[in-house]
Amino acid sequence: MPISRSILVALSRSPSLRDFMENSALGRRMSSRFVAGTRVDDVLAAATAVNSHGMSTSLDSLGENVLSAQEAQQAADVYHRLLDAIQQRGLDSNVSVKLTQMGMDLDPELAFAMAASLVEHAGAANTFVRIDMEGSDYTQATIDMVCRLHAMDGNRGRVGVVIQAYLYRSKADIDRLLSEGIRIRLCKGAYQEPESLAFPDKADVDKNFVRLMQILLPSGVYHGIATHDEKMIEATCRFAKERGIQQDQFEFQMLYGVRRDLQRSLVAAGYRVRIYIPFGTEWYPYFMRRLAERPANLLFIARNFFRQ
Ligand code: FDA
Repeated sequence: MPISRSILVALSRSPSLRDFMENSALGRRMSSRFVAGTRVDDVLAAATAVNSHGMSTSLDSLGENVLSAQEAQQAADVYHRLLDAIQQRGLDSNVSVKLTQMGMDLDPELAFAMAASLVEHAGAANTFVRIDMEGSDYTQATIDMVCRLHAMDGNRGRVGVVIQAYLYRSKADIDRLLSEGIRIRLCKGAYQEPESLAFPDKADVDKNFVRLMQILLPSGVYHGIATHDEKMIEATCRFAKERGIQQDQFEFQMLYGVRRDLQRSLVAAGYRVRIYIPFGTEWYPYFMRRLAERPANLLFIARNFFRQ
């Protein structure tokens, strides 16, 4: 019987498996397809390589739901190092940040202060901060915080957010964000959500993704269409052509290690592609979400593992 998404989601919550995986050479080797390594230097090397293939990047220092202000500050410090390195090395890159990693669960004002200092730094480094979207408990607070950050002096165009097509509320959220000119990354959504909040059927998520993409593209704001789904990508290319929207007016975004063939073919066709590159010691929840999206990845990883 094939291993199912729900088993993988359940395993993603196991503290003992997490501890074993994150601290073993075996675990690190398994995750290396989707995670660029554990150190800042690892992710900078990966970003340099991706840039050399004509794609931009967004760097993600893995970690979520920190338990102390000190941990939040340490997480923010890593991002400050990344922003310095992006500027010094002239990388075509920005950063992706989770508010729970900045201390959102402890004190929203702490997370706001951490995020505000990152956006200010990104402005000085001539780049951008993307606030990732987490589970639905955080949707409203995340959107409110991004609007607040974006409204601060000097931050216009320096901070953006993510919208998940599986949530019923997303059209209304997009209307609000666009009225403030905020850049959006559109994705399908990676968390387990109840039917009361999110479309349970993939067909409906896909339909909503296309509908939302068709609102974003002509909006005059630069957005990211984040998917590996060829149907979503084709729909986006077709819509842009029909509407005369130029290839440099939006970008596709994909995850490190996922559909590298598709990444390169889009670049060859003249589209902008940004690769989201995660790194860090706390890679287990991220890695398990990638497996849960496509349980066949488990076979793929096992095959490559034994081939090495
Ligand atoms: P879908 O899951 O329907 O997959 C379509 C096809 O893509 C599959 O048939 C397969 O070929 C390929 N594919 C998809 N996932 C794969 C994988 N893991 N391994 C191998 N092949 C795979 N989510 C969220 O909730 N908050 C966020 O902030 C973000 N941020 C984000 C950034 C970027 C750049 C991307 C690309 C995605 C996210 N996501 C996210 C994750 C997103 O919500 C979603 O879970 C995944 O992108 C998978 O959805 P697809 O659109 O690729 O389609």
